[in-house]
This record gives sequence, C-alpha cells and structure tokens, in this order.
Amino acid sequence: MTPAARVAAAIEILTEIERNDAPADTVLVEWFRRHRFAGSGDRRAIRESVYADLRDGALRRWLVANAGGDPESPRLRMIAALSREHPDALDGVFSGDGYAPPLLDDFERAVSDGTAQADAAAAPDHVAANCPAHLYALFAEQWGTQARDELAAMNRTAPVDLRVNTLNADRADARARLAADGYKADVTPFSPSGLRSHARGDFRQLGAFRAGMIEPQDESSQLVSMLVDAAPGQNVVDYCAGAGGKALALAAATNNQAEILACDVSRLRLDRIAGRAARLGVTSVAIREVPADAAPTDLVGRADRVLIDAPCSGTGTWRRSPDLRWRTRPGTVADYQDMQDGLLDSAAGLVKPGGRIVYAVCSVLEGEGRSRVDAFLARHPRFARRLVGDVLGTDLAARLDLSDDLVLTPHRHGTDGMYAAVLVRTD
Ligand SMILES: C[S@@+](CC[C@H](N)C(=O)[O-])C[C@H]1O[C@@H](n2cnc3c(N)ncnc32)[C@H](O)[C@@H]1O
Repeated sequence: MTPAARVAAAIEILTEIERNDAPADTVLVEWFRRHRFAGSGDRRAIRESVYADLRDGALRRWLVANAGGDPESPRLRMIAALSREHPDALDGVFSGDGYAPPLLDDFERAVSDGTAQADAAAAPDHVAANCPAHLYALFAEQWGTQARDELAAMNRTAPVDLRVNTLNADRADARARLAADGYKADVTPFSPSGLRSHARGDFRQLGAFRAGMIEPQDESSQLVSMLVDAAPGQNVVDYCAGAGGKALALAAATNNQAEILACDVSRLRLDRIAGRAARLGVTSVAIREVPADAAPTDLVGRADRVLIDAPCSGTGTWRRSPDLRWRTRPGTVADYQDMQDGLLDSAAGLVKPGGRIVYAVCSVLEGEGRSRVDAFLARHPRFARRLVGDVLGTDLAARLDLSDDLVLTPHRHGTDGMYAAVLVRTD
C-alpha cells in the first residue's frame, strides 16, 4: 500500500469506530480480515495512525473546531494532523489518485491553513489531558487540582495483569512456569493472586495459559472478587457476568464449592464462559440469560452474595481502551446511571437477610460509583454500607488508602480505575 492509501485506510477505520461505536481493536482486526492484501508493514502503519488519532484526539478536535470544521470528522482530523506535522506531504497524500484520499476542497484547505497556524499552547486544560471537554468538567469537579495527575496516568499504557487460577496453581508455580517460557512477571502489590508483566507477546500461547494456571484480569477486578468474600456452600449471583471474568475468579476463591449463577442480558457473552471454565477447571458456574428490566422471580430472596459489576462508561479502563473516551458522548453517563440504579434495585430483591450486594463499576466517575450507592441506600433503608476494610482486612485497606468503599485509580494504585461498595441486608 502507498502511504496515501494507508492514510485513507486509517480514516475509514476511524469512521467505522465512531459510526459503529465499536472498540478500536475489534474494528482494526475486522478491517485487516477484509483487506488481506495489507501486509505487516501496512498494518503497523495503519494501526499507528489510528492510535495517534486516539492519543491526540483532544488536540486534533480542538484544532479542527477552532478552524471552523466538525471535530468528529476523522478526515478533517487527519488533515489537521498532517498540516501541522508534515505540511509538505499533505497534497501528496490527499491526491485523489488510486487508493489515496480525495483531493482537499476549498473548505478543507481553509481548515488545513487554520490548524497549521493555531497555537496549541492556547488550548484549554482538557486538551492537555486528552479528555473530552464534557468529561473533563466532571473530573475537575471531583478531583480538583489532582485531575491533571489522575488523567495523565489514565493516558499511559497499562501493563498485562494476570490472575493466578488457584484451582490449578499457586502464584509461585505460575510465575516459575511463565519464566520457564521466557515471560517475566512480577507479583502484584495488592492482590495475593496477581501477576503483572510489561512483556510484549501473546501470553495465550504460553504453557501456563494453556494449562489453566493464569487468566488475564486487571488487579482492580481481582480486588472486587475478593470483596465479594464468597464462601463454600454459599449461593452467589454474578448478575452482570458478561464473559465471566469475575464469576470464574469467585469459583476459584471458593474452590468450586459455592453455587455461582452467572447472569447477563447477553447470551453471546455468557456463552464464552464454558470454554474458559473448562480450561481453568471451574465446575461451579451455571449461566442464565436474564431480561433487562427485572430479575427473574425464582431468584428472589435466595442469594448470600449478589455481585453487580454494572455496565458503565468504563473511564477506569481508558489505559486499555483509549478509544472509549471518544465514544462516550454527553448523555452517556446519565444513561448508565439510570441502568445502574435499576440494577441495584433488582439486586436488592435477590439478597437473603444478612446477605450482601457488592456493587462495582470500572469507572472513576463518582456519579457512577459513590453517588449511585448513596442514592440506593436512601431508597433502601434495610441495607447498610459495610466498610471494605472489614472485608479486605485493615492492613490491605490501609495500604490501598481506603476509608469506606473501594476506590482505585491508575495514578494512585497503578491499577485500572474501579469503584466498589459492600451493602449488607440488615433485616
Ligand atoms: C462491566 S460488564 C461485566 C464484566 C464481567 N463481570 C467481567 O468481570 O468480565 C457489564 C455487563 O452487564 C451486562 N448488562 C447490561 N445490562 C444488564 C441488565 N439489565 N441485566 C443484566 N446484565 C446486564 C452487559 O451485557 C455486560 O456484559
């Protein structure tokens, strides 16, 4: 492919990411599958070009908007980037020849001139933080002067976190097996069954993975599973189980001796659990597709633990999914909040007296975390907040610098961002 054709491909992929509201990696893989003529050098260049737009998304949007263009146009953002970084190459790339992008029209030429001359130092704070302005306002409100450091950490690349599957291995064994295959991993600072690696390469090809000794899972999610504090013999509902990341961890924590029901509205996601469970030696997880609006009546009042790993904006995972920030529109958070309140209300009906809800979101927005829990407690007086230190132990809670709920951020803990609270049914 010519350099110009690669730029055309990147514009097409960015358009698909936005139009389909789909993760960048998924769209890239699918695009390469449909365009097998793209060689490894082409793929690398296209991927890099797409990720550059995600990494510099706030600056490019600001430049385009300032020059009078639509900031959500991937073509205009690419014109802006080239106009500043390689102005001499602009006309050669936007040449309209062969597979190159079409020629610039007069309006685009004006946007190009405007962006080339703009003073990036004059950009507002959300640009340096590579954050959409509507979300930056929320972060600035909750974090004040800390917002800058928190957002800087959310812009860095995340390491690979692995959960050691204690059904098949202890942490030392798994680490040694990985090392024997040349894969270096260190122990995680907070989760006793976590390993962390900065190695490149696909751990799924390694013997430790095939033997079911490890499973990818961020340390923050491992801590949420610990917070569920499930015990053998208990009835545990993982109400938003997805493909089962946490349900499988709960099965390991209870040595396959608890009854774990993995529920989700998506049958497709639930169907991915069986293969993972087989590799990990998990035998105690059953699946159940549930309707979006209400919990099935036969589950009411039976559970010792209900985990609500609620759908959310995913702001805590920006390190792993840099495109997510650009797919989160004004109004997205409010929609999630309605869903989160509904799920908490459903969960309240499932718990038996003395049982607990563990509510979690992989978001660092207080509006999806603490505010949802405070609102739930105001609606449901028979539930009370339990301090996470009472569950995780005071030593770990102190090391995590927690006061009541679990609040983790990439900046403060080196994990993905996560919020979780424990709510006990008191009657
Ligand atoms: C954050 S993801 C869960 C991730 C999963 N627990 C894990 O550890 O891998 C949220 C899940 O909630 C599911 N969901 C959304 N609305 C739901 C509802 N009303 N009832 C049950 N599940 C729902 C989504 O399909 C999605 O799989």
